[in-house]
Amino acid sequence: MQINLLSGALGAEITGINLKNTSKENWQEINSLMLEHKVVFFRNQDITSDEHIELAKHFGPLEKHIYVKARENYPEILRIIKASDEKHQWGEGWHTDVSYNPKPTKVIILRSHKIPPVGGDTMFSNMEVAYETLDDKIKDKIKDKKAIHSSLGAAAFTENYKKMEGNGNLKEYSNIHPIVRVHPETGNKILFVNSMYTKRILDMDEKESNETLKKIFKHQERLDFTCRIKWTENAVAIWDNRSLLHQGLSDFFPGRGLGYERVMDRIAIEGDHPK
Ligand SMILES: [Fe+2]
Repeated sequence: MQINLLSGALGAEITGINLKNTSKENWQEINSLMLEHKVVFFRNQDITSDEHIELAKHFGPLEKHIYVKARENYPEILRIIKASDEKHQWGEGWHTDVSYNPKPTKVIILRSHKIPPVGGDTMFSNMEVAYETLDDKIKDKIKDKKAIHSSLGAAAFTENYKKMEGNGNLKEYSNIHPIVRVHPETGNKILFVNSMYTKRILDMDEKESNETLKKIFKHQERLDFTCRIKWTENAVAIWDNRSLLHQGLSDFFPGRGLGYERVMDRIAIEGDHPK
């Protein structure tokens, strides 16, 4: 096995592990690599949908997306499609998946099927380093504080994306989570807010909450916390949704990445209540 670190902050590309091997032993190795590097990336893994599901099940119960319709015959798999003439893709902008849920996603396993020759990389940002490097005054201010995370409604997940279809659910959800959570497996502290879904700090006046969140969101965008995956077809990324932010870049510009379809299969594993 070979581990190539993707940046100084997080992420590793792994060679010498076969994801078609869905044994518990193989999963244990993958899981410990994921806990260490937060996102692990594997190329040339032509796994079937059943193997994708088998691998995911080792992490825990699978989660269905609240708003988006799953693949036919595979309710556990969400197919993310960007049409060839679309500039934007699903998953753009820094976020933690479904942080508005009472139990936000534990792990995501994303498998590529069709990838444009350029554009649409996925970026990740290490929220343990973001917490460690946060200004002491802000750390004091958010100590033991909680924040409200809100879903943006079904339209935000489907309206601007031609190929993404809603499942009929139009409800909106809000949940409260600690701003600094402790990783249930490693015990590390994580800065657990994101500019997409975190709306308000509780027990703080609105102006101060807005100003504090603005400073934190700016801090979270520091490029030295990040790594970047350049996809190829039949590649698999497995990431710890508890301890990082991620985004799919919508850099499909004319004459370069525009004009190509991008197709990914996503499986989400249910998380726990952040503590
Ligand atoms: Fe996402």
